[in-house]
Amino acid sequence: LTRGATEPDLRERHVVVTAGGTREPLDPVRFLGNRSSGKQGYALASTAAARGARVTLIAANTSLPDPAGVDVVPVGTAVQLREAVLKAAADADAVVMAAAVADFRPAVYAPGKIKKKDDQDPEPIALIRNPDILAEISADRARPGQVVVGFAAETDNVLVNGRAKLERKGCDLLVVNEVGERKTFGSEENEAVVLGADGSETPVPYGPKEALAETVWNLVARRLS
Ligand code: CTP
Ligand code: CA
Repeated sequence: LTRGATEPDLRERHVVVTAGGTREPLDPVRFLGNRSSGKQGYALASTAAARGARVTLIAANTSLPDPAGVDVVPVGTAVQLREAVLKAAADADAVVMAAAVADFRPAVYAPGKIKKKDDQDPEPIALIRNPDILAEISADRARPGQVVVGFAAETDNVLVNGRAKLERKGCDLLVVNEVGERKTFGSEENEAVVLGADGSETPVPYGPKEALAETVWNLVARRLS
């Protein structure tokens, strides 16, 4: 409540937002993916643009209209998302990792479509770890004072797990959502608590993703000033 609706408090700032969910291909027609719609990341991008920021939105497999006045960089896999984030973060004041990044990818990519064999069950799919992009950009800030924000979906012990995750990742802020069957994925609304590395806890009541986005930018703007 320290800000009027259209006050451009992110003017002259470059912010990078990731949105959506990565897809990790098994073969040319199949992938491992997740249910992230990208709506929270898009809400973050459009609210930052409305507050005057230059916005780079790195969009993993979303099917949402490009927000006005935002540079959209489409990506597919976690490795591609990492490349795009590192490039855009080089001159960014803030990076917000709202994308759901696959923790693992298939160890082998089959260049041709995988076929069934007569009456045989398939081999298990071997997986390898993807890079942890949030931990990497938090540890190697491209600029001093760059604010790094992560998102975490937790099903139980939300605050305890969230606090441990914030420390593990080394980011400045972690937005923790409680997820359940009817919460968050693909929905228009969100309920969360934003944990700060300074020990702060900012609850965000159940409401539109835009409201959570505004709270995130309030906390980011305070850390940038
Ligand atoms: N993230 C990332 N790179 C990964 C995995 C996650 O940058 N390889 C980011 C996400 O974009 C999110 C944050 O890390 O901002 C937390 O993601 P989450 O899946 O909750 O964390 P993990 O460390 O993967 O923990 P978990 O084992 O609970 O999945
Ligand atoms: Ca994960």
